[in-house]
Amino acid sequence: MNKEWVRETVRDIPLYYNPKVTAVRMDTSTNVLGPNPVVRDVLNGCADMDLNQYPKPYSDSLREALADTYGLKPDNFVVGNGSDEVLDIIFKTFMEAGETVVAPYPSYSLHGFFVRVNGGRFATVDLDEGFRLDPDALLAERGKIIILCTPNNPTANTFDAKAVERVVREHDGPVIVDEAYGEFAESSFLPLVDDYENLIVTRTFSKAYGMAGLRVGYMASNLEMAEQLQKIKIPYSLNRISEQAAIAALRDREYVDRSVELVRREREKLSRGLDALGLAPFPSQSNFVLFQCPVPSSEVVSRLAAKGVLIRDFGKQRMLEDCARTTVGTDELNTMLLSKLKEVMEEW
Ligand SMILES: Cc1ncc(COP(=O)(O)O)c(C=O)c1O
Repeated sequence: MNKEWVRETVRDIPLYYNPKVTAVRMDTSTNVLGPNPVVRDVLNGCADMDLNQYPKPYSDSLREALADTYGLKPDNFVVGNGSDEVLDIIFKTFMEAGETVVAPYPSYSLHGFFVRVNGGRFATVDLDEGFRLDPDALLAERGKIIILCTPNNPTANTFDAKAVERVVREHDGPVIVDEAYGEFAESSFLPLVDDYENLIVTRTFSKAYGMAGLRVGYMASNLEMAEQLQKIKIPYSLNRISEQAAIAALRDREYVDRSVELVRREREKLSRGLDALGLAPFPSQSNFVLFQCPVPSSEVVSRLAAKGVLIRDFGKQRMLEDCARTTVGTDELNTMLLSKLKEVMEEW
């Protein structure tokens, strides 16, 4: 194939992270309690669903359940096939080709991917040495859209709410607050969407809700913005089974509460265990921990994978030199992870 047939702006985009090893997955910050138990009941009832029919184009039932949960209106919400789809919708709706989207660095790599795929320019502003947000620097870039993620992936800290609020208040354009890990944090911007002309909050069922395999995400914004966003979503992108599972998961909070409690309890123990091995953890308000290795992190990650546990290496990225990220596991998983990491460090 002639490579010049490919749009210039996407020609050099690499494939996404797709590890080939079979190992215990502690690299994806998903739920370690196993699948959400409500999903089993939904799946058991699947045979009676009219799967010969399309779902509703905009998943109205799920939007109603979200409205009940958050005290907003169904039309404040747009749902999609994972929060990745809703992020993509935002750029398709608001960004002309060549316009700039500004984001803090380091953060979630797919933000830049969606911007580039949609023909935009992705500009980043470094976090400080404590991975804190600099609202002045973000605003000074004068991009069309600002996107930030709190708690931030992969650094695991939440940004100061006042700093985020300043960005929302002072930026003359859409501001996206990606709360994929919002359930693990103390505060959320989602209840505030009606207070701002420009705020969009994205969330997911992939993390605290334990449904990554079903691909359900959503965003909330004021009604006028949500109407524009809704028009751009691919109709029917969320299938009936996933929609029903998400509704059931919203109505039964037990598993989500248990997940959040587990993470809060285990995160400190895991961080202490990493510290004791000389693997310096950064503070976390999420269900994963970033830590810095005294030896090349790529080696730590590959040797650990050879022992059957996969964590994610970020060591080649600027500002994350020799850093790796692990999901916070159950007590049993963390004990196993720490004992294998101990072996790796001793063998080194
Ligand atoms: C910050 C952030 N946003 C969005 C996503 C995408 O989540 P989803 O599974 O809902 O597409 C992830 C997934 O890891 C993430 O870390």
